[in-house]
Amino acid sequence: MNKETSEMLVRTGRDTPMGNLMRRYWVPVLMSSEIGEPDGPQVRVTILGEKLLAFRDSAGLPGLIDEFCSHRGVSLYFGRNEENGIRCAYHGLKFDRNGKCVDVPSAPQSCARMNIKSYPCIERGGLLWAYMGPVEKMPEPPELEWATLPSSHIFISKRVQECNYLQAMEGGIDTAHVSYVHRYEVDNDPMHKDTKALDYIKADGNVIFEIEKQPFGLTLFGRRNGESDSYYWRITQWLFPWFTLIPPFGQHSLAGHIWVPIDDHNCWSWSVNFHPDKPLSDEERRQLEEGKGIHCEYEPGSFRPKANKDNDYLMDRQAQKDKRAYSGIFGFAMQDASLQESMGPIQDHEAERLLPTDKAIVMARRMLHEAVLGLEQGIEPPALSVSAQHVRAAGVLLEHSADPTAWAKEHLTDSRAHPVYSI
Ligand code: FES
Ligand SMILES: [Fe+2]
Repeated sequence: MNKETSEMLVRTGRDTPMGNLMRRYWVPVLMSSEIGEPDGPQVRVTILGEKLLAFRDSAGLPGLIDEFCSHRGVSLYFGRNEENGIRCAYHGLKFDRNGKCVDVPSAPQSCARMNIKSYPCIERGGLLWAYMGPVEKMPEPPELEWATLPSSHIFISKRVQECNYLQAMEGGIDTAHVSYVHRYEVDNDPMHKDTKALDYIKADGNVIFEIEKQPFGLTLFGRRNGESDSYYWRITQWLFPWFTLIPPFGQHSLAGHIWVPIDDHNCWSWSVNFHPDKPLSDEERRQLEEGKGIHCEYEPGSFRPKANKDNDYLMDRQAQKDKRAYSGIFGFAMQDASLQESMGPIQDHEAERLLPTDKAIVMARRMLHEAVLGLEQGIEPPALSVSAQHVRAAGVLLEHSADPTAWAKEHLTDSRAHPVYSI
């Protein structure tokens, strides 16, 4: 990818072309539980390079406002969350959840000119989402399947990833890497083990990919030998601008990711597990909380993984030698993050030499680029309509003669109308 295109895709701050595109979608900001009770502690959060403050007001409603006071720029993190607003600790200016200045103790007549930035918020799927784009263009609230489920059915976690969102997200689109860095993990992980899917995956290492361009993003079809009369298809979905849905394993919960820029050098890697039609069991929830599956363990009191670049991700050369962990690093999340962070904060895309297995990434980059250029010419971005968000991933045996794209169109585009296809 040339320098100019790369720069266009990786920069997401205010008034950048990609930043403008991302601001046309509802943005996952933090977990609802991080701003637990009314008038609880406010939380600093940087999203798309903007330093913001999230809080829950006295009525229990969430707010997302500029972190800094309009008076002389003090951080409102050090203010008081009380009586439906945040009061700056320096000279007592107070702002409500809409950023409206509601009190200037020393000069009440100045209130009207002291307002600060705020973004509309909603809560869905255990997350606080903000809309950071032009008000008149606000889309319907997101309807990805997991975002519409009761909290009993979902587990969601986030971790800081210390690199640009694009190279992190491309790991979710690059399904070819699964045969390498995750090779030994799938056997032991409670969210993957004891499934027929693993038998097919291990029996046929020569996966063949087909990729279909969709109005919402891409559908990736990975074909392996199944039974004597069938192929085993693993079908992954990528939705604009940052969602993936991962093909499921057996009766284990469904899964997906979101990659949201914190700034150009860091992103939030969100990981979701869910059952569409039943609560997660206590056992499942316990394992997910322990960091199993696509989740991770943390440095205490933070969202930074315990295995991080300062400790070489706790790489164990002996485990690498013994074939217990392909790279010597344990856990899907950190296996991916270690490699993606090793590319540097922003990968040098100009220096890369792509291979045929990178086709999906190339298509995704092209679609993102086209969407950015399109938006500049007034063309509406993809996947804003909620019906486009109802797709699901799958793992399914289909007869040799079956057309997987036709099958997916019929069985995966409206998740609510179909059972989960997983073996
Ligand atoms: S800086 Fe906030 S009230 Fe003065
Ligand atoms: Fe991975």
